[in-house]
Amino acid sequence: MLSPSEILEIRANFPILCQEVYQKPWIYLDNAATTQKPSAVINAIDEYYLTINANVHRGVHYISNLATEAMEQSREHLRQFINASNVQEIIFTKGTTESINLISVIISDFINEGDEIILSELEHHSNIVPWQMLCQRKKARLRIIPIDRNACLNLECLDTLLNERTRLVAVNHVSNALGVINPVRKIIKKAHEQGAWVLIDGAQAISHSQIDVRELGVDFYAFSAHKMYGPTGVGALYGKRKLLERFPPWQGGGEMIKEVSFEKTLYAELPFKLEAGTPNIAGIIAWEQAFSFLEHIGMERIKIYETYLLDEANRSLQEIPNLLLYANRALRSAVTSFNLSCAHPFDVGSILDRMGIAVRTGHHCAQPLMRVLNAPGTVRASFAVYNTLEEVEKLCDAVGKASKMLIS
Ligand SMILES: Cc1ncc(COP(=O)(O)O)c(C=O)c1O
Repeated sequence: MLSPSEILEIRANFPILCQEVYQKPWIYLDNAATTQKPSAVINAIDEYYLTINANVHRGVHYISNLATEAMEQSREHLRQFINASNVQEIIFTKGTTESINLISVIISDFINEGDEIILSELEHHSNIVPWQMLCQRKKARLRIIPIDRNACLNLECLDTLLNERTRLVAVNHVSNALGVINPVRKIIKKAHEQGAWVLIDGAQAISHSQIDVRELGVDFYAFSAHKMYGPTGVGALYGKRKLLERFPPWQGGGEMIKEVSFEKTLYAELPFKLEAGTPNIAGIIAWEQAFSFLEHIGMERIKIYETYLLDEANRSLQEIPNLLLYANRALRSAVTSFNLSCAHPFDVGSILDRMGIAVRTGHHCAQPLMRVLNAPGTVRASFAVYNTLEEVEKLCDAVGKASKMLIS
């Protein structure tokens, strides 16, 4: 496991973590919302604008070629990072939300009235609303996999939901609200047996364990750079090449064409067919530094260390009177979600904030899940590889103090 001195070395890459808020050391436990960025990522953004700022894929001059090469190198690195078979399967987007919207648009022609799309009760709004919009357009129907009392997806229900009308199953790999790890391998297998495609929302999985899209056999995998130590405004969609080739483009414009006349347009090959307009070049180039950062530490070591932090947090939180820990029996990744009885999550979060501890409170863009849990929201602490055991202990102490303050 990563040692305390290794964690200190890792933290040295994140100067932002050294600051104080309210004259207290800042403890950042809102990593599921966005992670901090290592200096290498920040420097790469500067470096791009200072030295090779030019538009890409318009190889007319020297610096433009350097920018294009750097961007394509990032694509190749990302391909290796998730073990896709071909760079044509890596589509750069603004983030998970855009990746999911992209698929919901390009599969439109393959969805007919009465067809069904299966989601789960654990989904983020980004993996609900685009499918709702598609279903409204095509008079198709959403079906929902319920959770059981441990907040795990009920796979027996999935068996009953899957049928010949199912076109797609879209579920997250890890729930952002509760941290539950979903059995995506089983879900993919079951969906494929029924001839349905599978989209996995990997926003909360990609920085916590090794993702191998080929081994998963998934059709589409969506994720954001900013949740894996990269910049905001960048993300990717992995899609099996054979599938992406079948679908039409979703946006028209520059970069995605071979030839345009007023009569008709010939589209470019993948991945450019699905990347209209000038991308976030600096962000894509800088994102590559985040892959290197993660690879240098090793995904397996990250997973072991973060699981250790999570287990320590849950063990201590459970000892606090009046604390309700969600999904406590489920397999979880780097997120703990709880409430104090008789206290609104916002009040708990505000007290923690005054103690220098940044957590997230509210519905976490998962309102349907909050309704199922019958909760107004939760307090969510989420961990990254730079968090320390001491920070976890301070969180639990602070929650204990908040409990006393709010309940007495
Ligand atoms: C599970 C999940 N899906 C989708 C998203 C949306 O990601 P983004 O806002 O980067 O597009 C998030 C963000 O919190 C998330 O946690």
